[in-house]
Amino acid sequence: MANLERTNFGSKIGIILASAGSAVGLGNIWRFPYLTGEDGGAAFILVYVICVLFLGIPVMVAEFIIGRRSRANTGQAYAVLAPSAPAWKWVGMMGVLAAFLILGYYGVVAGWTLEYTVASSMGVFLNDGDYTAFFNAFVSHPWRPVLYMVLFMLLTHVIIVRGVKEGIERCSKVMMPMLLLIICVLVVCSLSLPGAADGLKFLLQPDFSKIDGKVLLDAMGQTFFSMSVGMGCLCTYASYFTNDANLMKTAGSVALIDTTVAVLAGFVIFPAVFSVPGLSVDAGPGLVFVTLPNVFHLAFGDVPWVGYIFSLMFYLLLVLATLTSTISLHEVATAYVHERFRVTRRRAAVVVTSVCAVLGVFCALSFGLLSDVRVFGLTLFDLCDFVTAKLMLPLGGMLIAVFTGWYLDRRIVYDEVTNCGKLRIPFFKFYIFLLKFVAPIAIASIFINELFR
Ligand code: PHE
Repeated sequence: MANLERTNFGSKIGIILASAGSAVGLGNIWRFPYLTGEDGGAAFILVYVICVLFLGIPVMVAEFIIGRRSRANTGQAYAVLAPSAPAWKWVGMMGVLAAFLILGYYGVVAGWTLEYTVASSMGVFLNDGDYTAFFNAFVSHPWRPVLYMVLFMLLTHVIIVRGVKEGIERCSKVMMPMLLLIICVLVVCSLSLPGAADGLKFLLQPDFSKIDGKVLLDAMGQTFFSMSVGMGCLCTYASYFTNDANLMKTAGSVALIDTTVAVLAGFVIFPAVFSVPGLSVDAGPGLVFVTLPNVFHLAFGDVPWVGYIFSLMFYLLLVLATLTSTISLHEVATAYVHERFRVTRRRAAVVVTSVCAVLGVFCALSFGLLSDVRVFGLTLFDLCDFVTAKLMLPLGGMLIAVFTGWYLDRRIVYDEVTNCGKLRIPFFKFYIFLLKFVAPIAIASIFINELFR
């Protein structure tokens, strides 16, 4: 019989760093800069910050409340809190399914980051080369992206089997400070480049005429993805929070770290891109895998060793950020399998790693061998991305807000947010208003728009 005794994170800083580790990931360093590039720079960032404040943070706190109160994984939390309304459990189940699906395709891009780290350690990006062709050849290769994806899954697996405290918390405590340090060094390097001023202008001077429906939708979708909210990821982590953790403060700190890293990633990437004439900021998803390798050798051509260190540190940063996110996705699924089917944590992790790796193989090959396999016109990779980031996360976020704002006993919400009256929370009424009205209505509008676009 598996031991189902639950552990908690060991310290407040561990709680914040693990949650911030989940939030900070490819979403910040890969997705945020390319959306900023496509959606007009500063204006997009402004809308994004508003979404973080009024949608992201309230839903994150709601996930924390559900997780810590139920002390259960997201798949079972709703049954604990709403035993007389079993339909709510499907919100949690959708979260578990989303964890499998996101890990399946996120693992593929995670694998790319590993491959690019290896390539930059071998000095590949220091020479004049056709990096578009390099990228295309790699992602469509019959086995290399699969190999790197599997390696990344195994890395995640090793951390997860070590447990919540020894695995997740310990790694986050080491990797998050490293990540913050690396990104600061990169910002300094990037700002010393000749084109830095144009890059900064792009990031800091808003052009409000750029804000349209697409920008709003992109910003809201990005908020959920980047903050890891809407699928119970932070609900599962919160089930390991100690009783004295301040939920509002934790959510505020996580949001601050997540947004800062995203903006700093912009400070690294845009000055560098602007310093090379002819490169464009709206290169889309290829920005960090195609445009940046060009930057490394062009911008640092005179001092190749700086270019070498810059590129290696950049991809290492991407690996670290991605790893702290993949462990959180893995934990959602592992905790569910472990507690629901009463198998050991190790066995649960093996199941999750195997299922996600199989899914990952299909997603990885959808850039090459399986590129003709389409569902609704999308490759398997794009399908997983669309179904999760565009549909399941907003829908989940909306239902989490409705559950906490409308269904859950107000006393429970109050007790969780104030730690049974020990903390003074001045905006409690405003928080409930955001949960009951603002978040569901705003999210419903993104969701409907995405569906019928
Ligand atoms: N927040 C992560 C990122 O920015 C992605 C993620 C989404 C992780 C959902 C967990 C859950 O990369």
